[in-house]
Amino acid sequence: MTALFLPCAAGVEELLADEVQRITGRAAERTRGGVWVEGDERCAMQLNLESRLAQRVLWPLIDGPYRDEHELYALARRVPWPRWITPQQTLRVEVSAQRSPLTSLNFAALRIKDAVCDSLRESAGARPSVDTRRPDLPLFLFVGPEHATLYADTSGEALFKRGWREDTGEAPLKETLAAAMLAAAGWQGRAGDGPLLDPCCGAGTIAIEAAQLACGIAPGALRSFAFERMLPFRPHLPAWRELQREARGRVHAPAVPVHAGDVSFRMTDFATRNAERAGVRQAIEFRTVDALQRLPPAAAGTLMLNPPYGERIAPKGRGAGGGHGSVAATPAGGAARQGFDGGGSPADEFFALAAHWKRHYSGWSAWLLSPEMKLGGLMHMKESRRVPMWNGAIECRLYRFDIVAGAGPGSRPRPSAP
Ligand SMILES: C[S@@+](CC[C@H](N)C(=O)[O-])C[C@H]1O[C@@H](n2cnc3c(N)ncnc32)[C@H](O)[C@@H]1O
Repeated sequence: MTALFLPCAAGVEELLADEVQRITGRAAERTRGGVWVEGDERCAMQLNLESRLAQRVLWPLIDGPYRDEHELYALARRVPWPRWITPQQTLRVEVSAQRSPLTSLNFAALRIKDAVCDSLRESAGARPSVDTRRPDLPLFLFVGPEHATLYADTSGEALFKRGWREDTGEAPLKETLAAAMLAAAGWQGRAGDGPLLDPCCGAGTIAIEAAQLACGIAPGALRSFAFERMLPFRPHLPAWRELQREARGRVHAPAVPVHAGDVSFRMTDFATRNAERAGVRQAIEFRTVDALQRLPPAAAGTLMLNPPYGERIAPKGRGAGGGHGSVAATPAGGAARQGFDGGGSPADEFFALAAHWKRHYSGWSAWLLSPEMKLGGLMHMKESRRVPMWNGAIECRLYRFDIVAGAGPGSRPRPSAP
Protein backbone atom coordinates (compact mmCIF):
# COMPACT_ATOMS: atom_id res chain seq x y z
CA MET A 1 0.00 0.00 0.00
CA THR A 2 1.10 3.55 -0.67
CA ALA A 3 -0.52 6.97 -0.61
CA LEU A 4 -1.62 7.57 -4.22
CA PHE A 5 -2.01 11.19 -5.29
CA LEU A 6 -4.68 12.19 -7.80
CA PRO A 7 -4.36 15.80 -9.01
CA CYS A 8 -7.48 17.59 -10.24
CA ALA A 9 -8.60 21.06 -11.34
CA ALA A 10 -8.96 23.63 -8.58
CA GLY A 11 -12.43 23.52 -7.06
CA VAL A 12 -12.97 19.84 -7.92
CA GLU A 13 -11.19 18.35 -4.86
CA GLU A 14 -14.32 17.60 -2.85
CA LEU A 15 -16.10 15.99 -5.80
CA LEU A 16 -12.99 13.92 -6.54
CA ALA A 17 -12.70 12.78 -2.91
CA ASP A 18 -16.31 11.53 -3.10
CA GLU A 19 -15.66 9.82 -6.42
CA VAL A 20 -12.48 8.12 -5.15
CA GLN A 21 -14.34 6.85 -2.10
CA ARG A 22 -17.11 5.49 -4.33
CA ILE A 23 -14.59 3.71 -6.60
CA THR A 24 -12.22 2.31 -3.98
CA GLY A 25 -14.37 2.13 -0.85
CA ARG A 26 -11.62 4.04 0.97
CA ALA A 27 -11.76 7.53 2.43
CA ALA A 28 -9.71 10.03 0.43
CA GLU A 29 -7.96 13.02 1.94
CA ARG A 30 -8.46 16.36 0.22
CA THR A 31 -5.65 18.80 -0.34
CA ARG A 32 -5.29 21.82 -2.63
CA GLY A 33 -5.28 20.58 -6.22
CA GLY A 34 -5.96 16.91 -5.56
CA VAL A 35 -6.67 14.06 -3.18
CA TRP A 36 -4.66 11.34 -1.45
CA VAL A 37 -5.87 7.80 -1.02
CA GLU A 38 -4.19 4.69 0.36
CA GLY A 39 -3.97 2.08 -2.36
CA ASP A 40 -2.05 -0.70 -4.08
CA GLU A 41 -1.41 -1.52 -7.73
CA ARG A 42 -4.96 -2.80 -8.23
CA CYS A 43 -6.37 0.38 -6.72
CA ALA A 44 -4.19 2.56 -9.00
CA MET A 45 -5.37 0.59 -12.04
CA GLN A 46 -9.01 0.83 -10.98
CA LEU A 47 -8.77 4.61 -10.46
CA ASN A 48 -7.21 5.06 -13.89
CA LEU A 49 -10.04 3.09 -15.43
CA GLU A 50 -12.92 4.65 -13.52
CA SER A 51 -12.12 8.18 -12.34
CA ARG A 52 -13.86 10.87 -14.39
CA LEU A 53 -12.47 13.76 -12.36
CA ALA A 54 -8.78 13.01 -11.69
CA GLN A 55 -6.12 14.35 -14.04
CA ARG A 56 -3.68 11.51 -13.29
CA VAL A 57 -2.98 8.76 -10.79
CA LEU A 58 0.47 9.32 -9.31
CA TRP A 59 2.50 6.74 -7.40
CA PRO A 60 4.96 8.41 -5.01
CA LEU A 61 8.57 7.24 -5.31
CA ILE A 62 10.42 9.58 -2.96
CA ASP A 63 10.01 12.92 -1.29
CA GLY A 64 12.15 15.23 0.80
CA PRO A 65 13.56 18.70 1.25
CA TYR A 66 15.68 20.27 -1.50
CA ARG A 67 17.40 23.58 -2.20
CA ASP A 68 18.74 23.13 -5.72
CA GLU A 69 19.03 20.72 -8.66
CA HIS A 70 21.95 18.86 -7.06
CA GLU A 71 19.85 17.99 -4.05
CA LEU A 72 17.07 16.84 -6.39
CA TYR A 73 19.61 14.54 -8.06
CA ALA A 74 20.64 13.16 -4.65
CA LEU A 75 16.98 12.65 -3.70
CA ALA A 76 16.23 10.79 -6.93
CA ARG A 77 19.31 8.55 -6.50
CA ARG A 78 17.62 7.07 -3.41
CA VAL A 79 14.90 5.42 -5.55
CA PRO A 80 15.63 1.73 -6.38
CA TRP A 81 15.38 2.40 -10.13
CA PRO A 82 16.16 -1.14 -11.38
CA ARG A 83 12.80 -2.14 -9.88
CA TRP A 84 11.09 0.46 -12.09
CA ILE A 85 12.91 0.46 -15.42
CA THR A 86 15.34 -1.55 -17.56
CA PRO A 87 18.02 -0.06 -19.86
CA GLN A 88 15.91 -1.16 -22.85
CA GLN A 89 12.99 0.98 -21.72
CA THR A 90 12.32 4.71 -22.00
CA LEU A 91 11.48 7.50 -19.59
CA ARG A 92 10.21 11.08 -19.50
CA VAL A 93 10.35 13.61 -16.67
CA GLU A 94 7.69 16.32 -16.28
CA VAL A 95 8.07 19.02 -13.66
CA SER A 96 5.46 21.13 -11.95
CA ALA A 97 6.47 23.93 -9.59
CA GLN A 98 4.80 26.09 -7.00
CA ARG A 99 6.85 28.88 -5.45
CA SER A 100 10.03 26.92 -6.18
CA PRO A 101 13.43 28.66 -5.92
CA LEU A 102 14.66 26.80 -9.04
CA THR A 103 15.57 28.95 -12.03
CA SER A 104 15.21 26.21 -14.65
CA LEU A 105 12.64 23.45 -14.46
CA ASN A 106 14.22 21.89 -17.57
CA PHE A 107 17.48 21.54 -15.68
CA ALA A 108 15.62 19.94 -12.75
CA ALA A 109 14.06 17.41 -15.16
CA LEU A 110 17.51 16.73 -16.63
CA ARG A 111 18.98 16.01 -13.18
CA ILE A 112 16.19 13.53 -12.40
CA LYS A 113 16.83 11.82 -15.73
CA ASP A 114 20.57 11.73 -14.91
CA ALA A 115 19.84 10.10 -11.54
CA VAL A 116 17.84 7.32 -13.23
CA CYS A 117 20.43 6.79 -15.97
CA ASP A 118 23.42 6.84 -13.59
CA SER A 119 21.71 4.33 -11.32
CA LEU A 120 20.98 1.96 -14.21
CA ARG A 121 24.44 2.37 -15.70
CA GLU A 122 25.94 1.34 -12.36
CA SER A 123 23.62 -1.62 -11.80
CA ALA A 124 23.13 -2.89 -15.37
CA GLY A 125 25.94 -1.33 -17.40
CA ALA A 126 23.56 0.54 -19.71
CA ARG A 127 21.07 3.36 -19.44
CA PRO A 128 17.50 3.84 -20.61
CA SER A 129 16.73 6.54 -23.15
CA VAL A 130 14.27 9.40 -23.20
CA ASP A 131 10.97 9.27 -25.07
CA THR A 132 8.81 12.34 -24.59
CA ARG A 133 5.80 10.92 -26.45
CA ARG A 134 5.12 7.42 -25.14
CA PRO A 135 7.64 6.58 -22.44
CA ASP A 136 7.56 3.30 -20.53
CA LEU A 137 8.13 5.21 -17.30
CA PRO A 138 6.69 8.73 -17.19
CA LEU A 139 7.95 10.52 -14.08
CA PHE A 140 6.34 13.53 -12.50
CA LEU A 141 8.33 15.82 -10.22
CA PHE A 142 6.55 18.32 -8.02
CA VAL A 143 8.72 21.04 -6.49
CA GLY A 144 7.40 23.38 -3.82
CA PRO A 145 9.28 26.15 -1.96
CA GLU A 146 11.44 23.67 0.01
CA HIS A 147 10.04 20.21 -0.61
CA ALA A 148 10.03 17.94 -3.65
CA THR A 149 8.05 14.79 -4.48
CA LEU A 150 8.86 12.46 -7.33
CA TYR A 151 6.08 10.24 -8.65
CA ALA A 152 5.65 7.53 -11.26
CA ASP A 153 2.75 8.70 -13.41
CA THR A 154 0.68 5.53 -13.79
CA SER A 155 -1.67 7.25 -16.26
CA GLY A 156 0.82 8.44 -18.90
CA GLU A 157 -1.43 10.59 -21.03
CA ALA A 158 -3.58 12.82 -18.82
CA LEU A 159 -6.88 11.19 -17.92
CA PHE A 160 -9.05 13.81 -19.64
CA LYS A 161 -7.88 12.13 -22.84
CA ARG A 162 -10.48 9.39 -22.91
CA GLY A 163 -9.46 8.09 -26.30
CA TRP A 164 -12.54 9.14 -28.28
CA ARG A 165 -11.89 12.76 -29.21
CA GLU A 166 -10.65 13.54 -32.69
CA ASP A 167 -12.94 16.37 -33.68
CA THR A 168 -12.68 19.27 -31.27
CA GLY A 169 -14.24 22.41 -32.70
CA GLU A 170 -13.12 25.73 -31.33
CA ALA A 171 -13.51 25.69 -27.56
CA PRO A 172 -14.06 22.21 -26.23
CA LEU A 173 -14.27 21.60 -22.51
CA LYS A 174 -11.88 19.11 -21.05
CA GLU A 175 -13.69 15.83 -20.40
CA THR A 176 -12.71 16.05 -16.72
CA LEU A 177 -14.36 19.49 -16.44
CA ALA A 178 -17.56 18.31 -18.14
CA ALA A 179 -17.57 15.39 -15.69
CA ALA A 180 -17.07 17.82 -12.78
CA MET A 181 -20.10 19.87 -13.96
CA LEU A 182 -22.24 16.72 -14.00
CA ALA A 183 -20.90 15.64 -10.60
CA ALA A 184 -21.54 19.10 -9.09
CA ALA A 185 -25.13 18.86 -10.35
CA GLY A 186 -25.46 15.38 -8.83
CA TRP A 187 -26.39 14.04 -12.29
CA GLN A 188 -25.14 10.46 -12.46
CA GLY A 189 -27.09 9.09 -15.40
CA ARG A 190 -29.56 7.12 -13.27
CA ALA A 191 -33.21 6.90 -14.30
CA GLY A 192 -34.18 9.17 -11.41
CA ASP A 193 -31.85 11.92 -12.64
CA GLY A 194 -34.14 12.65 -15.60
CA PRO A 195 -33.14 13.63 -19.15
CA LEU A 196 -30.18 15.87 -19.85
CA LEU A 197 -29.94 18.45 -22.66
CA ASP A 198 -26.92 20.46 -23.83
CA PRO A 199 -28.37 22.85 -26.44
CA CYS A 200 -24.93 24.41 -27.23
CA CYS A 201 -22.99 21.14 -27.38
CA GLY A 202 -19.99 22.09 -29.51
CA ALA A 203 -17.85 18.94 -29.81
CA GLY A 204 -20.30 17.16 -27.52
CA THR A 205 -18.14 16.78 -24.40
CA ILE A 206 -20.90 17.22 -21.80
CA ALA A 207 -23.39 15.02 -23.66
CA ILE A 208 -20.81 12.28 -24.26
CA GLU A 209 -19.70 12.22 -20.62
CA ALA A 210 -23.37 12.14 -19.60
CA ALA A 211 -24.22 9.35 -22.04
CA GLN A 212 -21.28 7.25 -20.84
CA LEU A 213 -22.59 7.67 -17.28
CA ALA A 214 -26.09 6.73 -18.44
CA CYS A 215 -24.70 3.58 -20.12
CA GLY A 216 -22.28 2.61 -17.32
CA ILE A 217 -19.24 3.00 -19.62
CA ALA A 218 -15.97 3.49 -17.70
CA PRO A 219 -14.13 6.67 -18.80
CA GLY A 220 -10.88 4.73 -19.33
CA ALA A 221 -12.46 1.87 -21.28
CA LEU A 222 -11.14 3.11 -24.64
CA ARG A 223 -7.52 3.92 -23.85
CA SER A 224 -4.28 2.48 -22.55
CA PHE A 225 -2.26 3.58 -19.52
CA ALA A 226 1.42 3.88 -18.69
CA PHE A 227 1.18 1.33 -15.87
CA GLU A 228 0.60 -1.37 -18.51
CA ARG A 229 4.30 -0.97 -19.40
CA MET A 230 5.70 -0.45 -15.89
CA LEU A 231 7.80 -3.21 -14.30
CA PRO A 232 6.13 -3.26 -10.85
CA PHE A 233 2.70 -3.59 -12.48
CA ARG A 234 3.60 -6.59 -14.64
CA PRO A 235 2.53 -9.20 -12.06
CA HIS A 236 -0.78 -7.32 -11.74
CA LEU A 237 -1.72 -7.34 -15.42
CA PRO A 238 -4.05 -10.35 -15.05
CA ALA A 239 -5.95 -8.33 -12.40
CA TRP A 240 -6.02 -5.43 -14.90
CA ARG A 241 -7.61 -7.64 -17.59
CA GLU A 242 -10.15 -8.72 -14.98
CA LEU A 243 -10.96 -5.09 -14.07
CA GLN A 244 -11.46 -4.31 -17.77
CA ARG A 245 -13.67 -7.38 -18.21
CA GLU A 246 -15.78 -6.40 -15.20
CA ALA A 247 -16.12 -2.85 -16.54
CA ARG A 248 -17.32 -4.17 -19.92
CA GLY A 249 -19.85 -6.32 -18.06
CA ARG A 250 -21.35 -3.23 -16.42
CA VAL A 251 -22.24 -1.52 -19.73
CA HIS A 252 -25.99 -1.30 -20.28
CA ALA A 253 -28.62 0.45 -22.39
CA PRO A 254 -28.96 4.13 -21.42
CA ALA A 255 -30.84 4.50 -18.14
CA VAL A 256 -31.95 8.01 -19.10
CA PRO A 257 -32.09 10.00 -22.37
CA VAL A 258 -29.41 12.52 -23.34
CA HIS A 259 -30.10 15.26 -25.90
CA ALA A 260 -27.65 17.64 -27.51
CA GLY A 261 -27.44 20.14 -30.30
CA ASP A 262 -25.74 23.16 -31.70
CA VAL A 263 -26.68 25.95 -34.06
CA SER A 264 -23.77 24.92 -36.25
CA PHE A 265 -24.12 21.79 -38.36
CA ARG A 266 -20.34 21.51 -38.36
CA MET A 267 -20.37 21.16 -34.57
CA THR A 268 -23.22 18.64 -34.36
CA ASP A 269 -21.40 16.65 -37.02
CA PHE A 270 -18.16 16.75 -34.93
CA ALA A 271 -20.08 15.80 -31.81
CA THR A 272 -21.86 12.93 -33.53
CA ARG A 273 -18.57 11.49 -34.73
CA ASN A 274 -17.04 11.86 -31.25
CA ALA A 275 -20.08 10.11 -29.75
CA GLU A 276 -19.66 7.30 -32.25
CA ARG A 277 -16.07 6.72 -31.12
CA ALA A 278 -17.10 6.99 -27.45
CA GLY A 279 -19.63 4.18 -27.95
CA VAL A 280 -22.65 6.37 -27.17
CA ARG A 281 -23.95 7.44 -30.58
CA GLN A 282 -27.25 5.64 -29.97
CA ALA A 283 -27.60 7.15 -26.48
CA ILE A 284 -27.67 10.80 -27.64
CA GLU A 285 -30.25 12.58 -29.77
CA PHE A 286 -28.37 15.25 -31.73
CA ARG A 287 -30.11 18.12 -33.51
CA THR A 288 -28.77 21.11 -35.38
CA VAL A 289 -30.94 23.86 -34.00
CA ASP A 290 -30.76 27.30 -32.40
CA ALA A 291 -30.91 27.01 -28.58
CA LEU A 292 -33.25 30.01 -28.66
CA GLN A 293 -35.75 27.96 -30.65
CA ARG A 294 -35.25 24.48 -29.26
CA LEU A 295 -38.24 23.05 -27.41
CA PRO A 296 -37.84 20.77 -24.39
CA PRO A 297 -37.74 17.02 -25.06
CA ALA A 298 -39.54 16.26 -21.76
CA ALA A 299 -41.63 17.96 -19.10
CA ALA A 300 -38.66 18.23 -16.73
CA GLY A 301 -34.93 17.62 -16.86
CA THR A 302 -31.47 19.14 -16.63
CA LEU A 303 -30.00 21.67 -19.04
CA MET A 304 -26.22 21.62 -18.88
CA LEU A 305 -24.04 23.85 -21.05
CA ASN A 306 -21.16 26.20 -21.37
CA PRO A 307 -22.60 28.90 -23.59
CA PRO A 308 -20.43 30.79 -26.06
CA TYR A 309 -18.19 33.38 -24.50
CA GLY A 310 -15.48 35.52 -26.09
CA GLU A 311 -12.54 34.10 -24.20
CA ARG A 312 -13.14 30.59 -25.41
CA ILE A 313 -14.74 30.95 -28.81
CA ALA A 314 -13.76 32.87 -31.89
CA PRO A 315 -16.34 34.20 -34.32
CA LYS A 316 -15.47 31.69 -37.01
CA GLY A 317 -16.11 28.80 -34.65
CA ARG A 318 -19.85 28.84 -34.82
CA GLY A 319 -22.76 28.87 -37.13
CA ALA A 320 -23.23 32.52 -37.91
CA GLY A 321 -26.26 31.96 -40.05
CA GLY A 322 -28.52 33.94 -37.76
CA GLY A 323 -29.07 30.94 -35.53
CA HIS A 324 -31.07 28.93 -38.03
CA GLY A 325 -28.92 25.86 -38.17
CA SER A 326 -26.95 26.76 -41.27
CA VAL A 327 -23.31 25.85 -41.82
CA ALA A 328 -20.98 28.53 -40.46
CA ALA A 329 -20.27 31.54 -42.61
CA THR A 330 -17.16 33.24 -41.26
CA PRO A 331 -17.62 36.92 -40.48
CA ALA A 332 -14.46 38.96 -40.93
CA GLY A 333 -13.11 40.19 -37.61
CA GLY A 334 -15.89 40.30 -35.07
CA ALA A 335 -16.34 41.24 -31.46
CA ALA A 336 -14.19 39.64 -28.78
CA ARG A 337 -17.26 38.52 -26.86
CA GLN A 338 -20.05 36.73 -28.60
CA GLY A 339 -23.64 36.12 -27.85
CA PHE A 340 -25.92 33.48 -29.28
CA ASP A 341 -26.69 34.79 -32.72
CA GLY A 342 -23.93 37.30 -33.35
CA GLY A 343 -26.58 40.03 -33.41
CA GLY A 344 -27.24 41.27 -29.90
CA SER A 345 -24.87 41.96 -27.04
CA PRO A 346 -24.07 39.06 -24.68
CA ALA A 347 -26.50 40.62 -22.19
CA ASP A 348 -29.31 40.62 -24.78
CA GLU A 349 -28.51 37.07 -25.79
CA PHE A 350 -28.50 35.67 -22.27
CA PHE A 351 -31.70 37.61 -21.61
CA ALA A 352 -33.28 36.05 -24.69
CA LEU A 353 -32.17 32.58 -23.62
CA ALA A 354 -33.67 33.08 -20.16
CA ALA A 355 -36.91 34.33 -21.72
CA HIS A 356 -37.07 31.26 -23.97
CA TRP A 357 -36.50 28.94 -21.02
CA LYS A 358 -39.09 30.73 -18.86
CA ARG A 359 -41.58 30.32 -21.65
CA HIS A 360 -40.90 26.66 -22.46
CA TYR A 361 -38.69 24.98 -19.85
CA SER A 362 -40.59 25.49 -16.62
CA GLY A 363 -39.74 22.57 -14.29
CA TRP A 364 -36.20 22.17 -15.67
CA SER A 365 -33.03 23.14 -13.90
CA ALA A 366 -30.27 24.78 -15.91
CA TRP A 367 -26.55 24.53 -15.11
CA LEU A 368 -24.35 26.97 -17.00
CA LEU A 369 -20.57 27.22 -16.81
CA SER A 370 -19.47 30.76 -17.55
CA PRO A 371 -16.66 33.20 -16.76
CA GLU A 372 -19.38 35.87 -16.54
CA MET A 373 -19.52 36.76 -12.84
CA LYS A 374 -22.93 38.40 -13.11
CA LEU A 375 -24.75 35.85 -15.22
CA GLY A 376 -27.84 35.87 -12.98
CA GLY A 377 -28.18 39.61 -13.53
CA LEU A 378 -27.83 39.23 -17.32
CA MET A 379 -30.48 36.55 -17.36
CA HIS A 380 -32.75 38.32 -14.91
CA MET A 381 -32.82 35.10 -12.93
CA LYS A 382 -31.60 34.34 -9.44
CA GLU A 383 -29.19 31.43 -9.30
CA SER A 384 -29.77 28.83 -6.58
CA ARG A 385 -26.14 27.70 -6.70
CA ARG A 386 -22.85 29.15 -7.84
CA VAL A 387 -19.88 26.74 -7.85
CA PRO A 388 -16.36 28.05 -8.55
CA MET A 389 -14.61 26.09 -11.33
CA TRP A 390 -11.65 26.72 -13.62
CA ASN A 391 -11.85 26.19 -17.37
CA GLY A 392 -8.10 25.95 -17.98
CA ALA A 393 -6.76 29.32 -16.85
CA ILE A 394 -10.19 30.96 -16.91
CA GLU A 395 -12.00 31.36 -13.62
CA CYS A 396 -15.65 30.41 -14.04
CA ARG A 397 -18.77 29.77 -12.07
CA LEU A 398 -21.16 26.88 -12.56
CA TYR A 399 -24.59 28.47 -12.05
CA ARG A 400 -27.77 26.64 -11.26
CA PHE A 401 -31.08 28.22 -12.21
CA ASP A 402 -34.41 26.62 -11.37
CA ILE A 403 -36.69 27.58 -14.20
CA VAL A 404 -40.20 28.64 -13.40
CA ALA A 405 -42.76 29.87 -15.88
CA GLY A 406 -43.61 33.51 -15.75
CA ALA A 407 -43.84 36.69 -17.63
CA GLY A 408 -41.43 38.76 -15.53
CA PRO A 409 -38.62 40.76 -17.01
CA GLY A 410 -37.26 37.75 -18.95
CA SER A 411 -40.14 38.01 -21.42
CA ARG A 412 -38.90 41.24 -23.01
CA PRO A 413 -38.93 40.81 -26.79
CA ARG A 414 -35.64 39.65 -28.26
CA PRO A 415 -33.74 42.44 -29.99
CA SER A 416 -33.55 42.00 -33.73
CA ALA A 417 -30.21 41.59 -35.49
CA PRO A 418 -28.95 44.60 -37.41
C1 LIG B 1 -18.21 27.20 -25.74
S1 LIG B 1 -18.84 26.25 -27.02
C2 LIG B 1 -19.36 24.78 -26.26
C3 LIG B 1 -18.25 23.80 -26.18
C4 LIG B 1 -18.68 22.43 -25.77
N1 LIG B 1 -19.12 22.38 -24.39
C5 LIG B 1 -17.57 21.44 -26.03
O1 LIG B 1 -17.06 20.83 -25.09
O2 LIG B 1 -17.16 21.30 -27.19
C6 LIG B 1 -20.38 27.02 -27.37
C7 LIG B 1 -21.13 26.41 -28.52
O3 LIG B 1 -22.38 27.08 -28.62
C8 LIG B 1 -22.76 27.06 -29.97
N2 LIG B 1 -23.80 28.11 -30.17
C9 LIG B 1 -23.66 29.45 -30.30
N3 LIG B 1 -24.85 30.03 -30.44
C10 LIG B 1 -25.78 29.04 -30.40
C11 LIG B 1 -27.21 29.01 -30.49
N4 LIG B 1 -27.90 30.13 -30.67
N5 LIG B 1 -27.82 27.83 -30.39
C12 LIG B 1 -27.12 26.69 -30.23
N6 LIG B 1 -25.77 26.65 -30.15
C13 LIG B 1 -25.11 27.82 -30.22
C14 LIG B 1 -21.49 27.32 -30.73
O4 LIG B 1 -21.60 26.84 -32.07
C15 LIG B 1 -20.48 26.53 -29.88
O5 LIG B 1 -20.28 25.25 -30.43
